[in-house]
Amino acid sequence: MAEIKVAISSGSKDVGKLTKVATYPPPVINDNQILFKAVAFASNPTDWKHVVAGWGTPGSIAGSDASGIVVKVGKDVKGFAVGDYVSSALHGNYRKDRGAFAEYVIADPIFTIKYDKNTFSEQALPVGSNPAGRITNFEGAAAITLGVATIGLSFSNSLKIAKDKSKNELDYILIWGGATATGIIGIQIAKLVYGLKVITTASSKNHKFLKSLGADEVFDYKDSEVVDQIVKAANGNIKYALDTVSSKQTFQQNYDATKGSTKVAFDSLLFLSSNDLNRDPQRKEDTFATTRVYLASGESYNREGQSIVPSKELLDNFKHFWEELIPPYLGQIITPGLRVLAPGLESASEALELLRQDKVSGEKVVFRI
Ligand SMILES: NC(=O)c1ccc[n+]([C@@H]2O[C@H](COP(=O)([O-])OP(=O)(O)OC[C@H]3O[C@@H](n4cnc5c(N)ncnc54)[C@H](OP(=O)(O)O)[C@@H]3O)[C@@H](O)[C@H]2O)c1
Repeated sequence: MAEIKVAISSGSKDVGKLTKVATYPPPVINDNQILFKAVAFASNPTDWKHVVAGWGTPGSIAGSDASGIVVKVGKDVKGFAVGDYVSSALHGNYRKDRGAFAEYVIADPIFTIKYDKNTFSEQALPVGSNPAGRITNFEGAAAITLGVATIGLSFSNSLKIAKDKSKNELDYILIWGGATATGIIGIQIAKLVYGLKVITTASSKNHKFLKSLGADEVFDYKDSEVVDQIVKAANGNIKYALDTVSSKQTFQQNYDATKGSTKVAFDSLLFLSSNDLNRDPQRKEDTFATTRVYLASGESYNREGQSIVPSKELLDNFKHFWEELIPPYLGQIITPGLRVLAPGLESASEALELLRQDKVSGEKVVFRI
């Protein structure tokens, strides 16, 4: 294989210049990996944060979500073959030999989804806004993978939601930030896979959409009464609470909204802990976790001088979710709305910039190679 085109972290924090296109050596897979030819990409907040916060290094291949067609399968990989349509998530923006925004992408099977070609179209979606819908094309496939993995790790390992659906029907999960790309997937998985009741928060323009995904109650986080409204609606029945926004303010609101509930399991996506909260001293039985999705691939990584390593329990819980729990439901999952940019890896910079500037609501920004 000749050199390939990639979008890399430029090292610049200037508006519209977070990534640039470069030519890199061809990727090499090991016996446990898959190589696919990329067709579509989706952008995630982590992509711009790696550039701006310096979590990655300039020159790392950008991007954490891609979809495409398998061209090579490592000899120890089971369940994938050349020609399969797949999507995969990975820890992009971090190193120079691997990232999602590339002509060819190295994928780990445990972060990869295979699609039924009979219900999938190769045709490109038009540039512009496309409605939410089932995963029937490469853009939709790229849009959901990191979200499904994040929710999978949160629900199976951080929150440890009971797997027996029939026992969950009276319990609520509070998902703060239902219109985030992660929340949109979380609402559906909470209902479909775990049979929970869902309370969530979003701007009022997104309420109808989130209800169509199965949310039982949706409240406007901009309403000054939002916490009290949730306390009243939940009536002491919140058992799990995931904050997908994870600012100190939303984490506290998420906590306060569980007043009256007991033994609540909390999770955040930006490394907050119980130390970041004003807690009710009477509530000693709550549990607190923080999800770091990359760990579920089995990879350790360094962040701000700290080495972060997955436990065996985490890997087992995630494997069960990814291989057993979620596959029967993937055909029912609805993607966020898809905002399609012009084709070309040059669009990566615009995609990251839209997220950095908070210009994305209830949507995923996607583009083709
Ligand atoms: N730790 C991990 O493993 C992990 C994994 C994935 C993501 N993350 C992090 O999780 C966060 C969410 O990522 P994402 O891609 O899901 O987000 P996203 O789609 O970019 O989130 C955009 C949405 O955030 C909602 N929002 C903003 N402020 C809010 C508030 N105060 N209350 C409720 N909703 C609010 C907005 O809802 P409205 O439009 O309705 O206003 C908007 O639609 C990011 O910080 C990301 O870096 C972490």
